[in-house]
Amino acid sequence: MTVIKELKNEHEAVLLTIRIIDQITSLLKSGQTVELIHLDQILEFLAVFVDKCHHSKEEKVLFPAMEAAGIPREGGPIATMLYEHEQGRSLVQGLRSGVEGYRVGKESSISEIIKNAHKYGKLLTSHIDKENNVLYVMAERVLSAEKMVAMEAEFTRIEENEVGPNKHEEFHATLHALKSIYLD
Ligand SMILES: [Fe+2]
Ligand SMILES: [Fe+2]
Repeated sequence: MTVIKELKNEHEAVLLTIRIIDQITSLLKSGQTVELIHLDQILEFLAVFVDKCHHSKEEKVLFPAMEAAGIPREGGPIATMLYEHEQGRSLVQGLRSGVEGYRVGKESSISEIIKNAHKYGKLLTSHIDKENNVLYVMAERVLSAEKMVAMEAEFTRIEENEVGPNKHEEFHATLHALKSIYLD
């Protein structure tokens, strides 16, 4: 599998997570309770799979490779992607604060979860669309086949060092379980 295909597959997992989060926020809006364990699993997925793993592959490997191939970092699509990663991090912080409030029965926590989840879903959906259709297309144009192969090893290193062995499979299993609870 090419590194671009791997990143696109990860995008599919992020989009599935956003659909699960949407369903959870609908339940909360209609006054139903949601299992805290599921909220914790989603937060871990967003912090580790999406941010530490996927965003690290882009920020530490793909974007620097594109810069080295002549795509400027400042004022172009790479700067926009980096800025959106930052925005995503702060929305996940907001979501985490909402979940912490929900754990202790804080009244404002449900609206905090809904507000941050909605903004996060909107941001990441458009971010992924831009990467799949603009940024990754540029990457495929400017990066050589040899460079793509070399990046595979760097991706593997990120998964092992920053996420942990077998963690990737574990995340997919958790996501599949949440999907069958909330979407099937
Ligand atoms: Fe990204
Ligand atoms: Fe991405």
